[in-house]
Amino acid sequence: MKKEFPVFILGLAAAFIVPLIFLIVVPYLQLSDAKPENYSEEDDVVAAWAYPAVWTGANKEGEEVYASQGCAYCHTQMVRPTYAGADMWRKGWGGNEEEGLARETRAADYTNDRRAMLGYMRIGQDLANVGTRNRDRAWYHQKLYNARTQNVDSSMPSYKNLYRKQQIAQPSENAIKLKGRFAVEEGYEVVPTEKAEALVDYLLSRKMDAPIPGAGTDEEVAAK
Ligand code: HEC
Repeated sequence: MKKEFPVFILGLAAAFIVPLIFLIVVPYLQLSDAKPENYSEEDDVVAAWAYPAVWTGANKEGEEVYASQGCAYCHTQMVRPTYAGADMWRKGWGGNEEEGLARETRAADYTNDRRAMLGYMRIGQDLANVGTRNRDRAWYHQKLYNARTQNVDSSMPSYKNLYRKQQIAQPSENAIKLKGRFAVEEGYEVVPTEKAEALVDYLLSRKMDAPIPGAGTDEEVAAK
């Protein structure tokens, strides 16, 4: 009995340490210094020069806003492999289907992200490819200001804190179009703050459907 106790404790420790090493430490060492990879001529990609596309604009600040506002409580950013879920059957989730780009998410898709916002629950849609599905800035601002302007039953919270109500001096181009019960008083308009603009830049950058360097075109892959 006395001899068994240390063995039991050792076994218990191993049961925690071994998975920790293989599930966390090894993947971290393998993937943490991933850098964007340039496309070669054989890849025949004209839309971008590197995979994943190098960030421009205010995406970094947008990522901070996404994290701080808790969007990841309700939205994932990961298109699961078909063996693990039905994501690829949902239109637009896997990316640009018309151009044959739709695919599952891979680890390298998060190369530019400081934090990979995987999320853990899907109350709203997966956002891994929301930037492919919708490119209309005004649509994003309207949804963030108040999702019920687009969908009366929406359970997405309103992020009015990212918007500013101001007196109209000269009507702003980016003022949100608000009708009916959402309209603000005459002479006032609602405009996005810098944080809201950065968040929309970040959402527009969510396009995890870029071709993978060295993978060949769809036809080549099919022929192999
Ligand atoms: C309490 C849960 C919840 C939180 C938190 C939340 N959302 Fe949503 N979101 C939803 C739901 C539900 C929908 C679907 C209904 C709708 O379109 O309004 C949605 C829809 C969306 C859509 C449209 C997706 C599509 O494909 O049509 C976008 C974009 C979006 N949310 C962005 C955000 C961002 C950015 C944040 C953080 C600032 C956020 N959401 C926080 C629940 C949430």
